[in-house]
Amino acid sequence: MNNFFNASWIDSQLIKNEEDVILYKKSFSVTKKLVKAELYITACGVYVAYVNEKRVSMPLAPGFDSYKFRLAYQVYEVTNCIREFNQIRISVGKGWFGWYRDEELRNLSKRRGVKALIKLTYEDSSVEYIPTDDTWFCCYHGCQFSDIYNGEVYCANKTDSEAVKVDIGNSFLDENLFLFDGEPIIEKQRIKPINSFITPKGEYVIDFGQNLTGYVEFSIDAKEGEVIEISHAEVLDKYGNFYNENYRKAKAKITYVCKQGFQDYKPLHTFFGFRYIRLDKKPAGVTAENFTAVTVCSDLIRTGYVQSSNELLNRLFENVIWSQQDNFLDIPSDCPQRDERQGWTGDAQLFCKCATYNFDCENFFARWLRNMLLEHKFYGFTPDIVPDILNYGSAGFTPAWSDASTIIPWTLFNVYGNKNILNEFYPLIKGHVDSITSTTCEPDLWVCEKKLGDWLHIGDIDEYANETRGEFIASAFYAYSVSLLINSGRILNQNIDGYQNLYNRIIDKFRKTFKPRTQTECALAIVFSLSNDIEETAKTLVDSIKRLGGVRTGFIGTPYILHALTICGNTELAYELLLREQYPSWLYPVKLGATTVWERWDGIKNSGDFASPGLNSFNHYAYGSALDWVYGVAGGITPLEAGYSKVKINPHPSNKLHWLKVSFLSRHGKILVEWKIVDNTVNYHIETPVDSLIIIDGKENEMKSGIYEFQCKLKGE
Ligand code: BGC
Repeated sequence: MNNFFNASWIDSQLIKNEEDVILYKKSFSVTKKLVKAELYITACGVYVAYVNEKRVSMPLAPGFDSYKFRLAYQVYEVTNCIREFNQIRISVGKGWFGWYRDEELRNLSKRRGVKALIKLTYEDSSVEYIPTDDTWFCCYHGCQFSDIYNGEVYCANKTDSEAVKVDIGNSFLDENLFLFDGEPIIEKQRIKPINSFITPKGEYVIDFGQNLTGYVEFSIDAKEGEVIEISHAEVLDKYGNFYNENYRKAKAKITYVCKQGFQDYKPLHTFFGFRYIRLDKKPAGVTAENFTAVTVCSDLIRTGYVQSSNELLNRLFENVIWSQQDNFLDIPSDCPQRDERQGWTGDAQLFCKCATYNFDCENFFARWLRNMLLEHKFYGFTPDIVPDILNYGSAGFTPAWSDASTIIPWTLFNVYGNKNILNEFYPLIKGHVDSITSTTCEPDLWVCEKKLGDWLHIGDIDEYANETRGEFIASAFYAYSVSLLINSGRILNQNIDGYQNLYNRIIDKFRKTFKPRTQTECALAIVFSLSNDIEETAKTLVDSIKRLGGVRTGFIGTPYILHALTICGNTELAYELLLREQYPSWLYPVKLGATTVWERWDGIKNSGDFASPGLNSFNHYAYGSALDWVYGVAGGITPLEAGYSKVKINPHPSNKLHWLKVSFLSRHGKILVEWKIVDNTVNYHIETPVDSLIIIDGKENEMKSGIYEFQCKLKGE
């Protein structure tokens, strides 16, 4: 849109502190009959745009990109807001842009630049443009401080400060501009408190009953100058006191100074991860009734549902859905509450498969992969976080994290069947494999310095097994990534002969070098086909689970352990692991009342004490990754052809559940599998929108689209 590009960047000299918020404004009149009005806009920070007091922009616009390489703009239709005399107001806060460590971008962020254009199309076909230029004004307004981690200060009793002329800013960001390519960010749900109480420490706390991402809004009647101060937390401690040490340096606070009378407020340029709020200060008479929690996330279509006879498993599913929604806020983030909220590549790759069952994520991930591709081109490899706003890439790249470059495009292709995605990210897939090959210290294995190991495993070190080796993980993922490059190359008719040879050499050397010892090592060896003695590896895995009494995988092994058990004929043990209620297990947090997935198996210990606050988020989707097994194995829904144009339905019933109902809305329609066990007989109800291979009791049935009932005797293993 050329006229938008011609609009000037405007910025402000008013800024004294990094967290200052600037308001830009411009008045204009419309005298002719209007057909359409549109606002084109972006900013170096988070902006909120109002046309005649009506907020027209999406939350947290313009979204989170690798701004160094690309910056999104939005187009809003604002026809209904336009009158004869109009004012546009744009508030800009620090946002994600202000996180840049790169000096040039950091300085740019400090000036709160904005670029906008109003396009007015009249009935007589004429078009008028109102671009940002030196006729705009700027000032301070009620929002006095804003920061993604620390929160917001809003003084409703302050009117706009004296307006001054804007400066014309630097336009070099113009070459990075592109039309926002993600799912819009929305306010999804409004949740009323379920409880409020005074804690043993004497603090007034409100409970929304659900750990969520977003903010509170409130409506109150107050006197001018009265103050509301709000802190956020995910959990209470074992005494029932408010606890948010695990937010680390993120202050996550709202301070609001009231004007006289009735008033509403919700934060403008920030968000929080919380279930509880504490009112540190409040006018008399303000209670939980005045508050509503608003969830904020990318607008994704829910595609997967799971229900079973086990209520704890059902709640675990809800928790996974919540943690996904809470962390799919324009980028896939690790967590929404502490001083982090970054696009950690490892977390996203390991959760991607489960994520694509739960919600339609093609566009969401593709947008993020575009940033990844740009970071990859810049560094020559994929850094640990994308957008790499904190410059982590300067320290190198990490096995299993950087493999997001191959795993995510391949998963998207399998689920949605879109070759264009594979094609667009083939340079990333190939680039990643080549970056390993050219940097490893030993040919045909991945030997490198930077390793994070089996992140946050709780240790399976005993006399039989050592800790999962970082070099095992690295080389296993090297092999896996090369195999995905080969698969992708085949589909895209690329010459992959060299990579086939590389793959064979890696497998050969891997087998000579490593013998799997830990649960994670065994799971990777089985699922990635790295083991030359699968029976022995299966035995090591099963022995370890039985001996240690449960799951011992960290981030890396967790997505694979249940699949590994099924591959080697131990589906019953997979059910046992999944449904185990004592620590460590997936259901242990659920039994303790978790409403989202914890970052650690031991986030709250049996004693009721918290794990160290350094790494103890209660809203990390990583361990939820294992639940794709319920869709794909217990329910048995997987694509037979990429994109589910043909489906394989291979359910694995077990009497550890009485019944299970799983559905997935594929691009070709809804697939539903329901099984129920009565007196050792399994009754199946299956619906498929396309030709399917339905496997019941080991027997393969080629079926057309339709609704089917089957019955068979339940078999043990
Ligand atoms: C994040 C993780 C991430 C890890 C890797 C953590 O601080 O929260 O989820 O993968 O760092 O270092």
